[in-house]
Amino acid sequence: MNKKYRVAVVGATGMVGQTFIKVLEDRKFPVSEITFFASKRSAGSLVSFNGMNFVVEELTENSFDNGFDIALFSAGGETSLKFAPIAASHGVVVIDNSSAWRMKDHIKLVVPEVNSHVLTKNDLIIANPNCSTIQSVVPLDVIHKLFTVNRVIYSTYQAVSGSGYKGVMDLKNGYENKEPEFYKKQIFDNCFPHIDDFLDNGYTKEEKKMMDETRKILGLSHLKVSATCVRIPVTVGHSVSINVECEKPIDLNQLIEAFKQHQDIVYYEGRDYPTPQDVVGNDLVHVGRLRKDLSAENGIHLWAVADNVRKGAATNAIQIAEYLIKENLI
Ligand code: A2P
Repeated sequence: MNKKYRVAVVGATGMVGQTFIKVLEDRKFPVSEITFFASKRSAGSLVSFNGMNFVVEELTENSFDNGFDIALFSAGGETSLKFAPIAASHGVVVIDNSSAWRMKDHIKLVVPEVNSHVLTKNDLIIANPNCSTIQSVVPLDVIHKLFTVNRVIYSTYQAVSGSGYKGVMDLKNGYENKEPEFYKKQIFDNCFPHIDDFLDNGYTKEEKKMMDETRKILGLSHLKVSATCVRIPVTVGHSVSINVECEKPIDLNQLIEAFKQHQDIVYYEGRDYPTPQDVVGNDLVHVGRLRKDLSAENGIHLWAVADNVRKGAATNAIQIAEYLIKENLI
């Protein structure tokens, strides 16, 4: 009989937490027992999994005493910094969606179809990357293997669900002419180049995440990469315009063939292209608008779209867990 696993979902009432539940159901993840945690605020509320109701428990220092195999965390950086080591000290494998652990040297940052090979049995805290980064490195890895990537410039168009329910509420309220409560500016009928806090060098933290995490996941510590991250009034589905300069001359047909063969990429031919509405509820990375950059010697442009709450967060985390199971690392 196939083994089943004791799973904890931390941040179960949040947008990604709720999507963990959906993705576990959709992918028929082998669950023997499951427990849902959130803060004191929503302890006692109910969540539904596989048609059954479960009472949400308050996350405390003793929550992991009873033994879990896997904990899926999406409860913010502070919660992760405090509770992931507690879970790991009980032998639980934590897959953490916050940015708290991603750039620590000893922590693996994983997009399974790109760098799952870095994972070992000793990795008890594993970081799930930034949403826009996940959907960008999947096609970038294909390009790098064929033509050696030298430089990348990202421009993102990011949905409000990337900010959780607070972002979605601001967009909904904007339709009714209400002032935003979470964002600094109105997002309805608007867009702004401001995601996460500003840094002293003029970039935002979101842009720095994309730059640092791309290098770490692709294992290219010296890759030149820059980003401008923009919030747009779309509920679900991030889009990224990616400009790439390569070492070797680009053979577009070879690249198109590689995208078409890739099991996690949906390639849009010619004048067809993906939009956020095309990808909602889907676990793949959708790529289109592929063309040579006429201003650079070995340059290309492409457009990558994905469901930021699924492939950009919950699905990628659960794919990491599936890989650990498949490779007997858990
Ligand atoms: P709660 O509903 O109790 O606030 P989002 O990213 O959509 O804002 O969701 C964040 C998730 O993280 C929610 O489930 C939230 O629970 C949970 N959370 C926030 N702070 C804590 C904490 N200190 N301990 C446990 N869960 C937390």
